[in-house]
Order: sequence, then C-alpha cells, then structure tokens
Amino acid sequence: MNNAHNVLLKNGAVLSGRLALVGLSDAGVLQAFAEGGTAVSDHFGTYQRSLQTPGWQAYFGFLESCDAGSDTAVVFLPKARAELALRLDMARRLLVPDGQLVLVGEKREGVAGAVKQLKALAPDAVKIDSARHCQVWRSTKPNPQVGSTSAWLDWYRVTVAGHELAVAGLPGIFSAGRLDDGTRMLLETLHDTPVTGPVLDFACGAGVIGAWLRARYGQDLIIDGVDVQAQAVFCARQTYQRAGVNGDIQASDGLAEVSARYRTIITNPPFHSGVSTDLSMTTRFMQQVADHLLPGGELRLVANRFLPYADLIEQAIGPASVLAQDRRFTVYRTFRASGHRY
Ligand SMILES: C[S@@+](CC[C@H](N)C(=O)[O-])C[C@H]1O[C@@H](n2cnc3c(N)ncnc32)[C@H](O)[C@@H]1O
Repeated sequence: MNNAHNVLLKNGAVLSGRLALVGLSDAGVLQAFAEGGTAVSDHFGTYQRSLQTPGWQAYFGFLESCDAGSDTAVVFLPKARAELALRLDMARRLLVPDGQLVLVGEKREGVAGAVKQLKALAPDAVKIDSARHCQVWRSTKPNPQVGSTSAWLDWYRVTVAGHELAVAGLPGIFSAGRLDDGTRMLLETLHDTPVTGPVLDFACGAGVIGAWLRARYGQDLIIDGVDVQAQAVFCARQTYQRAGVNGDIQASDGLAEVSARYRTIITNPPFHSGVSTDLSMTTRFMQQVADHLLPGGELRLVANRFLPYADLIEQAIGPASVLAQDRRFTVYRTFRASGHRY
C-alpha cells in the first residue's frame, strides 16, 4: 500500500459516517473499512477490484453520475495536478450537504501546492496530520459542487502529414491539449509505411491514432482501442464519434479485456507508474501481444529512445526494424511469424 493509503488508515478516527474514497489506486485498502462505502478510481484494474470488494459501490472515473450519500469524501492527490479539480468535483457531488472533505497527498507530489486548489473550494480546510511524507487536510464546510460534468471536456486540433483532426481532452489525460512528439513520429511512419486492418491501438489515450488513421485510410479500416484510464476511454469515444472511426473503445488493464486478433497492433505504450519509470506494464504487454496478432501480423511501436524496447520486442516476438528515429524517439516494427506458437 502506498504512503497516502497508509496515512489514511492512521487517521481512521476522523473518517466518520458513510465513506467515499476518490482517486483510489489500491483496492486493498477497502478491506480495512468493514462498513463499506463508495470507491472511485480512474484505473480500470483498481475499479474492477473495488467492484469485487463486498460492501463497496464502485465508479470508474470522475464523470459518473452518482448519489450524494457520503458523509466523508476522501480525495487522493493525483500525479497529474490538473486531475485534482475533477476529483474534488466528484467528491463534492458524493457528499451529503453537511459532509466533510479530506485531502491526502505526498509532499513530493506537491500536496502543499494542491492545498491552494482545495482552499478555493473549501476555505475552512486545515492540516490535521503530517506523516509518512504525506499531509492530510480536512474541511467540514466545502462549497457545494455546481455546474455540469460535461463542462470539463475540451477539444483541440492536430495536423499530421496533411490530415487535420479534432481530439477530445479531459484533465489528467496523457498529453492533454497537444500531440505528443512520439505519437507524431509514429503517425508519420503510418503515412509512409501503411498498415492493414483490423487494427488495435493499445493504450489509445484520447484516440488520436484511430482518428488520424480514419482520415488517412478511410472508413473501411477497423481500428479498435483500449486504455486503462477512465478519462482516456471517455475522450477516445468522443474523438472516435466525431471523426467517424469504424471501431470500438474499451476499458482494459493491459490486454486483459481484448479477445480479438488483429492484423496490426499500434502503440505508444506507457512507461511511467506515477513519477518513476516503470517498464513492467509494457513487458507484460510484450509477453502477451503475439497472442493478439494474426499470423504475419505487425506490431508498430514508438518509445523513448533510451528505453530497451528492441530487446523486449526481440525476446517476445522477433527481430525489430527501426522505421524512424531522432534524438528522443524510435519507431519499431516487427511481424509475428506465420507459424508462431504460444
Ligand atoms: C504514452 S500514452 C499514449 C496515448 C495515446 N496513444 C497517444 O499517443 O496520445 C500511454 C497510455 O497508456 C495508458 N495506460 C497506462 N497503463 C495502462 C494499462 N495497464 N493498460 C492499458 N493502458 C494503459 C495511459 O492511460 C495512457 O493513455
């Protein structure tokens, strides 16, 4: 369990009445609260584990419509500060009129700065604990939430290799408001070196790859997408709808919810867990990806140049060729052998 979850347990006496935990990253903590409550996570794996914990009502993401039945709403500080506004918004929608709001966060993740944001909505907030590199803040009179959740959705335009598209954005999503440079390089290779469908965009974020492929190749190409984060799933569906993409967006932790096989899998995969580099997710993806490629199918992947992906790809599928490279990024391409057996 991380420091913020531990410090919450230490402050258990403050958490009166029906509890809501907003921004949960470890569903294991739920077992410590026998009375149950409401658990909200933007991570699909954590959401699925919360659903399986008796007594807990679970929500995937911070835009869900919810009942105002909680006496205490705890907000965990997100890694992406912009997302805090979304979490505070949902926490206040979950609270009964005289409910209390609690914020827990690590100092190295910027809890001190986040308190300004908290106080704008809950001016009476005071620090009630500082332990395990975390701070705990509490307000017994947060301002009620007003306004609609749809107001958070934002659109921006990107142009790559002559194709312009609209992309949906929400706080906390990868590369909000701008196209990632690695994704741009990946799309440029997709312009010059075409792929065939059906296509899966693994870790699709806001759905920019699918929308661009739609513009480049037309409506016949099937392009499905998966992502673990609620904002990404929400935005990708919006982006797909607006661009008229022929494909489905699904929430999935890794490839767990993917049952189909594809001619091409395209990805700009995650390599962060919070603030540190973490290749475990992508290593797991590599070990499983061949099972989701049709014989002879292609994996097209962009990664930061310093990451050891060529070796990972080679061990899992076969030799990788480099389609593009600059100071920061490399685009790899590899094919599943026609007779590949797993
Ligand atoms: C580098 S971003 C790429 C997003 C998008 N394809 C783009 O190019 O803008 C990586 C994405 O991986 C997602 N992700 C992280 N862990 C994941 C997991 N376990 N399963 C599926 N997606 C994951 C993140 O939510 C994020 O949207």
